[in-house]
Amino acid sequence: MLTRHLYIKTFGCQMNERDSEIIEQMLAEQGYLTVSKAEDADLVLLNTCSIRAKAEQKVYSMLGQLRLEKEKRPSLRVGVIGCVAQQEGKRIFKRMKHVDLVAGTQQIYQIPAMLERLDLDPTKHEIATNLSSDFSIPPFQKLLLSKDSAVSPAPTDYKKFVTIMQGCNNYCAYCVVPETRGREISRPLDDILEEVTLLIDRGICEITLLGQNVNSYGQTNSVSSRETDFSDLLHSVSRIKGLKRLRFTTSNPKDLSDKLMRCFGEIDILCPHFHLPVQSGSNAVLKRMNRKYTSEMYLEKVNILKGYRPDIALATDIIVGFPGESDFDYQETMDLLNTVRFHGSFSFKYSDRPGTRSEQFDDKVPEDVKSERLKIFQSRQDQISLERNNEYVGSNLEVIVEKINDGSIQGRALTNHIVHFQPKGPSPEVGDIVFVVVENAGKHSLKGKLT
Ligand code: 5AD
Ligand code: SF4
Repeated sequence: MLTRHLYIKTFGCQMNERDSEIIEQMLAEQGYLTVSKAEDADLVLLNTCSIRAKAEQKVYSMLGQLRLEKEKRPSLRVGVIGCVAQQEGKRIFKRMKHVDLVAGTQQIYQIPAMLERLDLDPTKHEIATNLSSDFSIPPFQKLLLSKDSAVSPAPTDYKKFVTIMQGCNNYCAYCVVPETRGREISRPLDDILEEVTLLIDRGICEITLLGQNVNSYGQTNSVSSRETDFSDLLHSVSRIKGLKRLRFTTSNPKDLSDKLMRCFGEIDILCPHFHLPVQSGSNAVLKRMNRKYTSEMYLEKVNILKGYRPDIALATDIIVGFPGESDFDYQETMDLLNTVRFHGSFSFKYSDRPGTRSEQFDDKVPEDVKSERLKIFQSRQDQISLERNNEYVGSNLEVIVEKINDGSIQGRALTNHIVHFQPKGPSPEVGDIVFVVVENAGKHSLKGKLT
């Protein structure tokens, strides 16, 4: 088989990261070796994100650089896939004439065939952007993990994402995802269990179940049985022998049932770490965002979660400067931050996205006000993260070894904290479980000593 070289650049979320892995696997079976620089590649794929305008601009700027590379090497193939590809479709070819291939979020399985057609006639363009509206034909990844697959997890991998659903039905006013990823659809339980089992057979010991809104697994447009909800899925996956850590992302607070929260008290291997995006602390803003919960409901859930798992580390997403957000609304977000004291958060300035409801709202917040609000939020979060992290000093944490760099080791605690430490005696291997006593805390990581 002819060996060719693939460079794939992934923007955006873990859904995209997982999709890129699947694409690498599919293309490896066609003789493509993955390389780490575009200059070394015969094929460059940009797996794109359009969640905020800035994410989309990054894609166009990288495409600009690739134009120069293609002028030097006309045989280079360039593909745009993912959310920008889904939204922009053939407009990409007009704006960027050097792009050969455009594949939307549900068309990644078509990429090998599209490339074969490009080999036959390099003057043509290839495009596939259908979003499935027929839920009886699920666009799920086929299992590419059969024993004789050309690619297995690298020996340095101990954790993997497993997609359990895709799309989103929530229509938050600011969000482009229902348009780029389509309607919500859940993957059949047996498929998920089979994939997790295969991964464990191949040495993986930590799984993160992945979807835009995992809490509503099995409930809408399901190809799975409606009797299986997300809590049932968590219990089933947790019973697979050999699995040591289980996580999931992302959740919408409105669908966070008591049954699901109870899982944190019932399932030992479910990690005490929860990413629960709140977006705003103002009920008026939450209403205009179409989030369908109030800050009081959110706080109540936080308390219930802590009741089931007192050591749970909470993270969130925040948007500042949503249209109509007053100083008072913003202060309510700061108040919520000070009440929950999140271990960490991802915070963003509101960004208008084409086709969303809030794009039409006329009371936009000026850019300088958004920037100021974001700065204040982030600096307060940094203080809180540091204080929170200091609470771990002196405790003995279970850590999985993640990376070994020149004798210094980076690991991951159950709470998802990064933990740095030095080896003692023979260096441990990636995937080993060790215990580390925390000696120092920074705002983004902990430092300690092996016990
Ligand atoms: N502007 C700013 N942030 C956004 N997010 C989603 N859409 C937008 C937007 N239009 C943020 C939300 C979401 C995270 C993935 O990105 O906080 O949880
Ligand atoms: Fe970006 Fe959302 Fe698409 Fe993920 S689903 S790549 S966050 S736009």
